[in-house]
Amino acid sequence: MRTKIVAGNWKMNKTLAEAQSLTSEIIGMVADEVKGNVKVVLCTPFPYLHAVNNQLGNNNRIAVGAQNCSEHDWGAYTGETSAAMLAAMNIPYVIIGHSERRQYFGEDGALLAKKVDKALAQGLTPIFCCGEPLEIREKGTHEALVKQQVEESLFHLSAEGLQKVVIAYEPVWAIGTGKTASSQQAQDMHAVIRKHIASKYGAIAENISILYGGSVKSDNAKELFACADVDGGLVGGASLKSREFVEIVKAI
Ligand code: PGA
Repeated sequence: MRTKIVAGNWKMNKTLAEAQSLTSEIIGMVADEVKGNVKVVLCTPFPYLHAVNNQLGNNNRIAVGAQNCSEHDWGAYTGETSAAMLAAMNIPYVIIGHSERRQYFGEDGALLAKKVDKALAQGLTPIFCCGEPLEIREKGTHEALVKQQVEESLFHLSAEGLQKVVIAYEPVWAIGTGKTASSQQAQDMHAVIRKHIASKYGAIAENISILYGGSVKSDNAKELFACADVDGGLVGGASLKSREFVEIVKAI
């Protein structure tokens, strides 16, 4: 059985006070309303990780995650945060390779491979993002590009390492645009990713959780999550409102 995960990516939003209210609302609603064994991850801005993690205490259904980490362990890298620092703060998850990092900060496949290595070496679970921009989808080369992204940053891992990675497929044209991939488009790409992993790693591909991201909302989550190869979601905008986010969690 693959782990079902719904992760909220708060991006660069909320004050600390707002982040703490959002967290306490989510804690309450998840406790009261969410059945089953879905794992909820709150990927907060760096300065709030410690506070949100303390608020969660030893909640075994909700965990905190960072949105990025450095490819270095320590040292003179002003403004950076390392996987070693996150691990020492008991932060279990980290998003790596979000399309906004690729697009605005020039992060490429080779750099992301190093970040994945650092996260795994520190015992963190990387949520590795892949996905094609609109022009690639329109050209029809989206499957080739996503396979290449997965290959470049994950295929150097041992089977043991790969099994600790969560993948998020996020078509760039669906992020923050209100334009969701159809459940068929999501399922097709998730199956392509899983098959590609199976071609190198064999049966363990069946154990890898692959999340869909890109304008997931409470009214489309159920259909997306019903797809055989969609194991949950990475949710941006809709994760900033507790009611909307928890309805997405309940859709799984
Ligand atoms: P969105 O963002 O849900 O606002 O489209 C998803 C993401 O960027 O992870």
